[in-house]
Amino acid sequence: MYTQAMDLINKNDNDHADAPDPVREQAFEARIAAGEFIEAKDWMPGHYRKTLIRQISQHAHSEIVGMLPESNWISRAPTLKRKAILLAKVQDEGGHGLYLYAAAETLDISRDQMIEALHNGRAKYSSIFNYPTLTWADMGVIGWLVDGAAIMNQVPICRCSYAPYARAMIRICREESFHQRQGYEALLTMMQGGTAAQKAMVQDAVNRWWWPSLMMFGPPDSESPNSAQSMRWGIKRVSNDDLRQKFVDATVPQAEILGITLPDPLLHWNAQRAHYDFGPIQWDEFWRVVNGNGPCNHERLKMRVDAWESGAWVRDAALAYAKQKTPQTTAQT
Ligand SMILES: [Fe+2]
Ligand SMILES: [Fe+2]
Repeated sequence: MYTQAMDLINKNDNDHADAPDPVREQAFEARIAAGEFIEAKDWMPGHYRKTLIRQISQHAHSEIVGMLPESNWISRAPTLKRKAILLAKVQDEGGHGLYLYAAAETLDISRDQMIEALHNGRAKYSSIFNYPTLTWADMGVIGWLVDGAAIMNQVPICRCSYAPYARAMIRICREESFHQRQGYEALLTMMQGGTAAQKAMVQDAVNRWWWPSLMMFGPPDSESPNSAQSMRWGIKRVSNDDLRQKFVDATVPQAEILGITLPDPLLHWNAQRAHYDFGPIQWDEFWRVVNGNGPCNHERLKMRVDAWESGAWVRDAALAYAKQKTPQTTAQT
């Protein structure tokens, strides 16, 4: 088994997790306030558990669905080296999904339940993966901007109060940093030694991915009602708007080195704030995509459902094999 089944909450004790218990709740809040980490077997309020299940499972879904736009280009990578890099990156994303599903399973939800929620549309995944990948330059821009934004989002989660999630994120962030670097390096190669057509292709990809990348940090703090509670519980460490600003500040100098123009006429350095100011984000587009009406929502979900259905025989065979093996293993121990 590749789950963290040993850490699962004891099913008999599970009822208490969701029942109000002011004494334990107070002790829990005190542990959080003292900066302690919560392990899977520790008592936790039902709302904390549910918030984590929602966040971790949606994060896992994002990793798995996120494999689709890039896998579209594996067979068309321009060189063997680029193909090997892209293949490794897409496999990493599959691994991230698995660590995260395993972390969510420690909160007493099954993999099947999570997958079902994705397939019937109850669970979301990052809206960025509902955009199409039109050219090879999109591979570089996804690494640079999308993985770059993911790192900004995810580094603070390495200090999340829920320890199994924090541990998964430490490993994931190391790999995300490779993803960002390989994307930036691919773009630099095209911008420094490429033809005019290749440079135009990079600029076009940046034009299409810039704003959706800024949306990856989620709605403005003023419209993010769950954020305050998540911050108080140490699930979220930095606010959406602060992360977005950090990302813009880090990315603008990188764009200058690349020699591309970010598609925002209002983007400029504000010496007073010591940050870059940027133009308004089209939140109606964000909500349209989140609510299922982006360019590729239907296609992405269909691919996941088809993969799940066509892989049923593998799961059945693995379960039948495990059942056969179980008595033998127990006898040996
Ligand atoms: Fe990832
Ligand atoms: Fe990544």
